Amino acid sequence: MILVTGGAGFIGANFVLDWLAHGDEPVLNLDKLTYAGNLHNLDSLKDDARHVFVQGDIGDRALLDRLLAEHQPRAIVNFAAESHVDRSIHGPEDFIQTNVVGTFRLLEAARHYWNALPAAKKEAFRFLHVSTDEVYGTLAPFDPAFTEDNKVEPNSPYSASKAASDHLVRAWHHTYGLPVLTTNCSNNYGSLHFPEKLIPLMIVNALAGKSLPVYGDGMQVRDWLYVRDHCSAIRRVLEAGVVGQTYNVGGWNEKPNIEIVHTICTLLDELRPRADGKKYAEQITHVKDRPGHDRRYAIDARKIERELGWRPAETFESGIRKTVQWYLDNPDWVANVQSGAYREWVARQYEGEKEGAQA
Ligand code: NAD
Ligand code: DAU
Repeated sequence: MILVTGGAGFIGANFVLDWLAHGDEPVLNLDKLTYAGNLHNLDSLKDDARHVFVQGDIGDRALLDRLLAEHQPRAIVNFAAESHVDRSIHGPEDFIQTNVVGTFRLLEAARHYWNALPAAKKEAFRFLHVSTDEVYGTLAPFDPAFTEDNKVEPNSPYSASKAASDHLVRAWHHTYGLPVLTTNCSNNYGSLHFPEKLIPLMIVNALAGKSLPVYGDGMQVRDWLYVRDHCSAIRRVLEAGVVGQTYNVGGWNEKPNIEIVHTICTLLDELRPRADGKKYAEQITHVKDRPGHDRRYAIDARKIERELGWRPAETFESGIRKTVQWYLDNPDWVANVQSGAYREWVARQYEGEKEGAQA
């Protein structure tokens, strides 16, 4: 079996579902179930013996040692992290604990487990660390996209904590020989995306008749990848990636935020027109910018394409349509994640924002 950490979150849950749709190798899923973890994401696996869920922290070394000894995974795929940049600005502590200390503890547990494996299993073992393009910092409008050789220049507490974890993973390979792989992916979108992030927040706010808060001028650029394409990239890297290597994963799909928001509004106008006949775009407001906001990310994904033959299957047009439709079809999921804690976060993050200039 494989051990997946953070498998109840957005990408982790999509990965577990995707993994079990593509084969029968069981998954041991270790997730702390923070505000971002949601077991309902895995409801379809309730009676599936191939999925074993354990609630726990990647920072809990005793638990890790016990799980590794008991389940003997052939690989670890590490998704577990605090993942929201705005939250890292309000409170970086959890990001250091999980993303840095947690990754360190997981690496140490993996190293001791791996060291004691018999030769053939030792040779085959992999530790795949899921990371982000944000570790590379920000790009000017005409800079070339990030390659794996880019300098690491993180700008937010979140990206600094992810960069630190990437460095630890690299060092555990260089020093101890742990067979690691690292992926640095661009912005994901798709089903099960927690509605604190741009795309799901805009969809749920639009449907609730609330304002659509675009930070600053909305001209920050992100490179969007459909989540199931990220999952297929991770499967491919786990299968054929060269130990010690880093692979950038992206969708060749750079778009300014304001364009994303307009696309969502247009899709909703078509799929669920407003009762008053007005356009959803009338709900767009410009709000104060994120401190230290990175202006542009772009991924050069030629290495994974060339060496591992991976390419995204989804275009942005097909992926965003599926995504909007998923949120329309799953109001219960949205209601379920909008707990008291979620409402407190939204009130705090957007407090004092007046209805700004209507776009
Ligand atoms: P998410 O916030 O939706 O999910 C994170 C999951 O990790 C949750 O289920 C949470 O309960 C769990 N978790 C948090 N702390 C934990 C701990 N200490 N021990 C065990 N579990 C813990 O995040 P996501 O968007 O699914 O991102 C998953 C990974 O992919 C992260 O490492 C993130 O940095 C990386 N990534 C995300 C994106 C993106 O666009 N979302 C892009 C590139 C890379
Ligand atoms: O690039 C990969 C990263 O993408 C991942 O590593 C992170 O885990 C993931 O959260 C994401 O980070 P971003 O900061 O790019 O995603 P977010 O959805 O928070 O914001 C996307 C863009 O939209 C960013 O420029 C900020 C802007 N934004 C976001 C929110 C929540 C708004 O304009 N308004 C908003 O309300």
